[in-house]
Amino acid sequence: MSAAESSYHRAFPVKGGDFAKAGNAACEIKELLKDIGLDTPTVRRAAIVAYEAEMNVIMYAWEARMDLTVSPDEVHLVVDDRGPGIPDVELALTEGYSTATAEMRELGFGAGMGLPNIKRNADVFAIDSEVGRGTRLDIIIRKNGHVPS
Ligand SMILES: Nc1ncnc2c1ncn2[C@@H]1O[C@H](COP(=O)(O)OP(=O)(O)OP(=O)(O)O)[C@@H](O)[C@H]1O
Ligand SMILES: [Mg+2]
Repeated sequence: MSAAESSYHRAFPVKGGDFAKAGNAACEIKELLKDIGLDTPTVRRAAIVAYEAEMNVIMYAWEARMDLTVSPDEVHLVVDDRGPGIPDVELALTEGYSTATAEMRELGFGAGMGLPNIKRNADVFAIDSEVGRGTRLDIIIRKNGHVPS
């Protein structure tokens, strides 16, 4: 990126329940970050975070906007959904906790690892949820930041 365009931004809409398009936004984000020339570990972490966040919108929310901003030092992803919200955020962040339906589990989802994985791969992670309104994830991945173990 040149100094004149030191920050890149793009928004991706995601529709709840749209399993046919599951992972499309995350895939585009991954390709985009590769094209920009980001290092492989950062691309990998951002792709995991984007995929898990996108799948949660598809499985649990009605719709969302994923906002990707790439600046010289970091990748910033905000996922703001309109949906049922999460009544107990701490519980939702617990490994293995899932409210996935039998159908979702048949598709291979519902291990209860999405949010813990997002948190593990983020350098900064914030989750804000309101029952009856929706959930907002705010994630920063620093380029060449520490690679989580
Ligand atoms: N955007 C969201 N809106 C409403 N509830 C959510 C949202 N994201 C997560 N949850 C709730 O938090 C739980 C845990 O989410 P997490 O992503 O960790 O696991 P999962 O989606 O159930 O399974 P996995 O991600 O491993 O396929 C979900 O089962 C769901 O109850
Ligand atoms: Mg999930």
